[in-house]
Amino acid sequence: MDLGIAGCWALVSGASRGLGLGCARALAKEGVNVICVARREDVLAEAVMDLQRSCPDPATRIIGVAADITSAQGRQRVFECPDGPGLRFDIVVTNSGGPPPGDFRDWTEETWLAAIRANMYAPIALIQATVDGMAERGFGRIVNITSGAVKAPIADLGLSNGARSGLTGVVAGLARSPLAAANVTINNLLPGAFLTDRLRSASSARAQAQGTSLETVLQERTNGVPARRLGSPDEFGAMCAYLCSQHAGYITGQNILMDGGAYPGVL
Ligand SMILES: NC(=O)c1ccc[n+]([C@@H]2O[C@H](COP(=O)([O-])OP(=O)(O)OC[C@H]3O[C@@H](n4cnc5c(N)ncnc54)[C@H](OP(=O)(O)O)[C@@H]3O)[C@@H](O)[C@H]2O)c1
Repeated sequence: MDLGIAGCWALVSGASRGLGLGCARALAKEGVNVICVARREDVLAEAVMDLQRSCPDPATRIIGVAADITSAQGRQRVFECPDGPGLRFDIVVTNSGGPPPGDFRDWTEETWLAAIRANMYAPIALIQATVDGMAERGFGRIVNITSGAVKAPIADLGLSNGARSGLTGVVAGLARSPLAAANVTINNLLPGAFLTDRLRSASSARAQAQGTSLETVLQERTNGVPARRLGSPDEFGAMCAYLCSQHAGYITGQNILMDGGAYPGVL
């Protein structure tokens, strides 16, 4: 299926690894020009080279901007990238690392504000900067990578549960504003367990704490998924690209869970 977005400009943050890289790859394969953002320049440069090589059309532009997307200066650097489109993005995929796990009793006001800044305010700021231009041009797609924890909160991920639920509430209202009539959609993609560096390092920390092996912890995670496997960043990217396509204009304000059937509820 031709997604009808070749030649568009996308901003994908957290794009040097994992789910963000999966999204950038799926968009690049569709001929979308992508600005990829991550903090570590060397890892990002490697990802950008790899993405550029995988583009079917060599004219597709893949540009890396090393920046912290959770800071105002980082976002400014992205919007001022000399080879980029400025604020004229057609597609924005918001993503960064998740807040650390921990005990509710240990979290201070500063801990909470840092989580809210990274996982609630940063996506809002990216949307705020780009969405009115999208509406004027009559096309826009925003996809926020949040978490399955929005639907089924995880006790030791309270910072993530709280900050991402806040973003979800804001998006629910905004997506149904006049932006919808201007063909600008805003949706959230909720990953369950996907095999990325983040999942590997969280699992190896758990393995160490439990005195067991990484393989055992990964197998336990897999056993909790009806699909009996972990998700791949490429299948996550494929869903993201579809939500960004011309065909997905009637899908907005949705929370789309990808978890191999792990969430047990009806709705
Ligand atoms: N994987 C899962 O199973 C899963 C499940 C539920 C939710 N999630 C959420 O989905 C998101 C992506 O997860 P992932 O597994 O793909 O993580 P990952 O493998 O650790 O990749 C994270 C990517 O984001 C970049 N990044 C992190 N902080 C950033 C910042 N402040 N500014 C710009 N780039 C930043 C990282 O590069 P640098 O470090 O170089 O910046 C890297 O490219 C996270 O928020 C995670 O909590 C993941």
